[in-house]
Amino acid sequence: MKSDIESVLISQKELNRIIARLAAEIERDYSAPDKRLVLVSILKGSVMFAAALMTALKIPAEIEFMRVSSYGAGTVSSGNVRILLDFYRPDISELDLLIVEDIIDSGHTLSSLTKLLNERGARSVRSCTLLDKPERREVPFEPDYTGTVIPDKFVVGFGLDYNEKYRNLPFIGVLKPEVYSAPERPSMSIMKGNPTTK
Ligand code: PRP
Repeated sequence: MKSDIESVLISQKELNRIIARLAAEIERDYSAPDKRLVLVSILKGSVMFAAALMTALKIPAEIEFMRVSSYGAGTVSSGNVRILLDFYRPDISELDLLIVEDIIDSGHTLSSLTKLLNERGARSVRSCTLLDKPERREVPFEPDYTGTVIPDKFVVGFGLDYNEKYRNLPFIGVLKPEVYSAPERPSMSIMKGNPTTK
């Protein structure tokens, strides 16, 4: 796998440092006794980040999972999301939800999910992303907690994939262009977003 990586963008050590800083910020905001912090991990990309963040938190935190996919596969822009895996909490009005993402790109996923979870009556809905690619934004959305801003490069590792590969790399790396432009790969038309950068 490592031979497919052009460069390491964020090392394992740097990831740990970023996650510790995010956990401290979240602890500061959710430490009041009346808070009920529930991480909502968006599968599959956020699984490593959500687990590491949860472990770094020194305050009580529950976890739920969702999996979503953009409508209109193959299009760069999609204003809505399809829910592939959902969670149900009858006590949602007492919960402070924190959506946990590996990356925000166009902004459609976080924008749509924030709206949806607010409509379901959560006491509060905030979002935390490990990576932010602001250059790619199609809808205005700013996460409440951001690990780091990255350039518009095709990144993989620590949950992020290309064709389901590289998620288990322990760092964030930039994929070599020849890997995703190789002719034997599946058609890019089935991929969401701009395949040259994500
Ligand atoms: C990625 C990422 C976010 C979403 C962000 O998921 O994990 O959920 O895209 O993109 P957006 O800001 O343009 O909406 P992806 O659909 O690649 O699925 P995966 O997490 O299962 O790899």
